Amino acid sequence: MLNRITKLLEKPLLYTKSEAAFWNDEHISAQMLSAHLDPEFEGASRKKSFIEKSALWIGEAVPPSSYPSLLDIGCGPGIYAEKFAKMGYQVTGIDFSKRSIEYAKNSATEQGLDITYHYQDYLTMNLNQIFDFAAMIYCDYGALSWADRQAIMQKVLDHLKPGGKFLLDVFGMAEYNSFEEKKTWEVCHNGGFWRVGKYVALNECYKYSDHVTLEQISIISDWETAAYYLWNTYFTKETIMKEATDAGFKVCSVFGDVAGSPYQDDGPTIAILLEK
Ligand SMILES: C[S@@+](CC[C@H](N)C(=O)[O-])C[C@H]1O[C@@H](n2cnc3c(N)ncnc32)[C@H](O)[C@@H]1O
Repeated sequence: MLNRITKLLEKPLLYTKSEAAFWNDEHISAQMLSAHLDPEFEGASRKKSFIEKSALWIGEAVPPSSYPSLLDIGCGPGIYAEKFAKMGYQVTGIDFSKRSIEYAKNSATEQGLDITYHYQDYLTMNLNQIFDFAAMIYCDYGALSWADRQAIMQKVLDHLKPGGKFLLDVFGMAEYNSFEEKKTWEVCHNGGFWRVGKYVALNECYKYSDHVTLEQISIISDWETAAYYLWNTYFTKETIMKEATDAGFKVCSVFGDVAGSPYQDDGPTIAILLEK
């Protein structure tokens, strides 16, 4: 057991992927869905008040009258997708959390909203459709490795019409600078976010070079050990613009967030509107 724990706690190579299921783990995906649906919690989706403001701004910046078909990449349980549909976009959502997509489908049916949802990995998506507008919201882009960021840029280009728009947001350097390297632990006697039953979670936070961070969560219970790696890459205005233009996009504008706040060098996030 001690060997397994010391192995579990080793600092992994940059962008090593977790072997343990995260988005589709029966228990964790239920916790994530509750987090998405909590209007005051910022863990999975942003707060309800921000999302309302953001959807309104997006509708003005990339209006459905000019950009009717919208692909919501990493749509979760459809919080933005539903707002977009009510604003007049023809919405397609893609996500690889089965639980979120099932919730999104049921919710759209209950509300009589015509939204198409795909349970699929966006890194390998092939939807046989091209869109006027794609959105990837809440800093999911920076959770990807460099290779996966190249892959999603290409997939979005493949799924956009010429002149189509792509809106995404990333965490900025202020968030990187305030990220603290530390090691903490938590004993959950009656279960918690990671497991139903008793477990211990050892949390290690590391900074890597090139403005990358890792939250490494190691779970130890009576019958198993598992490691989860949550990566994040942080950007400056220049580095996100370069990554987008290198991939083949034109930069239309840069904002502080996906609600259209003005860009600030020391802001927590950067939103970028691109054109194919
Ligand atoms: C931070 S959440 C944001 C959800 C939503 N955009 C919002 O703002 O409410 C990221 C979402 O991306 C999904 N996701 C992560 N990686 C994915 C992948 N490779 N393919 C499809 N969906 C993915 C997750 O399941 C999760 O729902």
